[in-house]
Amino acid sequence: MSYSTLKLERLDKGVVWASIDNPPANAISDALVDDLDQLLTELEADRSARVLVIGSNHPKNFVAGADLKMMTQNASKYAGQGGAIRDAASRMQRVFDRVAKFPRPVIAAIHGHALGGGCELALACDFRFMSGGTIGLTEVSLGLIPGAGGTQRMTLLLGRAKATELIFFAKRLSKEEAEAIGLITKAVEPERLREEVVAFAESLSERAVFAMGLAKQAMDAAVPLDHGLAVEAENFERTFTTGEPLEGIAAFLQKRPAKFLKDAAAKA
Ligand code: COA
Repeated sequence: MSYSTLKLERLDKGVVWASIDNPPANAISDALVDDLDQLLTELEADRSARVLVIGSNHPKNFVAGADLKMMTQNASKYAGQGGAIRDAASRMQRVFDRVAKFPRPVIAAIHGHALGGGCELALACDFRFMSGGTIGLTEVSLGLIPGAGGTQRMTLLLGRAKATELIFFAKRLSKEEAEAIGLITKAVEPERLREEVVAFAESLSERAVFAMGLAKQAMDAAVPLDHGLAVEAENFERTFTTGEPLEGIAAFLQKRPAKFLKDAAAKA
């Protein structure tokens, strides 16, 4: 199978390293979501693929989040079509959920920024190794909310109080800060990321990976996410009725601070 936004390497001991390669920013486009979906179908059926690593070929970004340029176009295209933005969020959720439910271990190898949907993709993995950049759910700074599972998985991983602080303030954490609160598994030096992730993936692969998949499924059953994901997708669409994304995304693209307070005062 060939992919337009992913490069696959089959390493020793059943380790598959998939690098996201979606220039210019390694943002999450429809093509990337489709490719991830197909990759999971291919690897689920391939029992020789024992451990999946998701990395990136971009020099600075693991994944820069949802494609804000595409989102601006789609928001005007979808205007008035109730449910279309929710459905787009649901589609991303569904594919990231497939990453989370992949029946063998999945590791995120994060060498650069993992923001918004990039953080959500990392959260869907079983382990996160990070060597550079920043990580965080930055959506609220844009007037959006995390729409690909982030409100659910960050809360489950870190607890409600910490998730509230990180999501409300759209915090971007260094690898040291992320390791200190348990958002990532391990902070590593940039030159050692590949080596450490491969060694860790091989040590998983030497163990009973199919049992791990079954353990994962049982752990997931403790907290079913279906309802939370549905509310998240619905509310992701509802952000577009507040007017905040209009200001937040425009400010990002114009490289200026967002003025939510001024906007609210003008409307009052
Ligand atoms: N979607 C679309 N384009 C994006 C993008 C995104 N998520 N993130 C960055 N880009 C684009 C920028 O608009 C810029 O385009 P330009 O060259 O046409 O101006 C280009 O990528 C480089 O970005 P820039 O901010 O200049 O680079 P940087 O190295 O200083 O910072 C990031 C990189 C990823 C830290 C920064 O771009 C950023 O914060 N991006 C937004 C991340 C985010 O909040 N994502 C959540 C989306 S819901």
